[in-house]
Amino acid sequence: MSDTAIRTIAARARGVGKTYGAGDSATVALHDVDLDIRAGSLTAIMGPSGSGKSTLMHVFAGLDSASTGTVLIGDVDITHLDDDALTLLRRRSLGFVFQAFNLVPTLSVFGNVTLPFELDGRKLTDTESAWIHELLARLGLGALEQRRPHELSGGQQQRVAIARALAMRPQLIFADEPTGNLDSRSSREVLTLLRDLTREYQQTVILVTHDPVAASHADRVIFIADGTLARDVPASDPKTLSDIILDLEVRS
Ligand SMILES: Nc1ncnc2c1ncn2[C@@H]1O[C@H](COP(=O)(O)OP(=O)(O)OP(=O)(O)O)[C@@H](O)[C@H]1O
Ligand SMILES: [Mg+2]
Repeated sequence: MSDTAIRTIAARARGVGKTYGAGDSATVALHDVDLDIRAGSLTAIMGPSGSGKSTLMHVFAGLDSASTGTVLIGDVDITHLDDDALTLLRRRSLGFVFQAFNLVPTLSVFGNVTLPFELDGRKLTDTESAWIHELLARLGLGALEQRRPHELSGGQQQRVAIARALAMRPQLIFADEPTGNLDSRSSREVLTLLRDLTREYQQTVILVTHDPVAASHADRVIFIADGTLARDVPASDPKTLSDIILDLEVRS
């Protein structure tokens, strides 16, 4: 493969399997998954509950180790990194948005969003500071920068967590049901922002969602069933996506 082809792949799974537990209680959560994620794209992962979506995301992000196979982030094989190297890679190159926001209660919105820089032991540059103010404004949090998390609604807290994940402009952003707690307007704003980031900054986003409307913002939709890749389709409308989901649920 040429260098250019390698550079355009942001993440790659080869023969990835994940088994939790052992013996009679073993659960095969992923089986022999091969997947290339193109840089600068928004990929949605859909599938029935328990099909392995979160596991795939955790293994891709080095939050959980693969039982078999290899995972590359850019051209780094993370299955061979030690904990310190993985921590640095996660802090500098990956962004996470999970349903549990994990905001620090004693810090303001601005403090929470700039925490990744703090943890990395450095001050914001002027450009970074301008970007964070822009990000907060785009997420409708511009007037709330000095509030603490308990002074915000659930949807506002969710958006702070999203801003924090995007603050360092990570190469790769993982979002597991990021719009699960948002009303349809906030949800659309978040999805539009995620998609704009892929267009404007060549960032790569992997989004796990049950919502066909959310997934319809993606460039590509991967369906997982019983720990394997069941379907892989280009950008589609919500109706097409929900038909595929129904079909997979009927079969399982
Ligand atoms: N830490 C764990 N220990 C044991 N089994 C686990 C663990 N995490 C997940 N599993 C199992 O692995 C399978 C896949 O789980 P996973 O969380 O990846 O599903 P999911 O597709 O994200 O589901 P949902 O849509 O409900 O979030 C399930 O059978 C689940 O019970
Ligand atoms: Mg899940």
